[in-house]
Amino acid sequence: MAAQPPVITVDGPSGTGKGTLCLRLAAQLGWHFLDSGVLYRLVGFLALKRGVVLDDAVALVPLAAALPVEFRPLADDLEIRLEHEDVTRAVRTEQIGDAASRVAACPPVREALLARQRAMRRAPGLVADGRDMGTVVFADAPLKIFLTASAETRAERRYKQLKGKGNDVSLTALLEDIRARDERDATRAIAPLVPAPDAEILDTTLLGIAEVTDRVMHLVRERGLA
Ligand code: C5P
Repeated sequence: MAAQPPVITVDGPSGTGKGTLCLRLAAQLGWHFLDSGVLYRLVGFLALKRGVVLDDAVALVPLAAALPVEFRPLADDLEIRLEHEDVTRAVRTEQIGDAASRVAACPPVREALLARQRAMRRAPGLVADGRDMGTVVFADAPLKIFLTASAETRAERRYKQLKGKGNDVSLTALLEDIRARDERDATRAIAPLVPAPDAEILDTTLLGIAEVTDRVMHLVRERGLA
């Protein structure tokens, strides 16, 4: 059997810098990029739009299985189009993040999104951002990174990011949301947010994105992936 293209998995809670790190790694290596959180966000978004209850597996699975989504690379982000509508900003709100973490706790929804995620593993390689990339989706990945940071630091980063995009947000509310979402993600029965046993754990509380990227690129070279 031909060797599978390599995957670098980057897991961890929101606000640890996973997205920025993955975009930089993918650009430096010339590899593909999978933002798996967007898939859960899109299921949550569609469910809210169609009035589907967020734990109704029977109604959610067809939405997840047939997600009519298209990704278009932008200079430093991805444009997300759902049924030809640009939803790039609409799916990044806290409300949709919360809906995503509710639908993500539903095992058949995760199952329905598996094949789509694995299909992204194409040559020359894939950088995969999520919560269960190293534990479930790409358990055989040759390099697994798990990012952590204090909840306060993560809330501040989200605050700056959302403010920068023109959203009206409160830091206190963000911190509460982050804590609630962490709790739900870490304690759910299926694919909980935990580091893979063979993951490299990096605490980004005191590290800038350039330093985090350098450290990971060092590991990439050490493992002979580039
Ligand atoms: O990473 P992002 O904030 O976009 O993810 C939104 C939510 O989707 C997370 O809080 C988590 O509940 C869920 N998710 C997941 N598994 C992934 C990616 C995201 O359960 N691989």
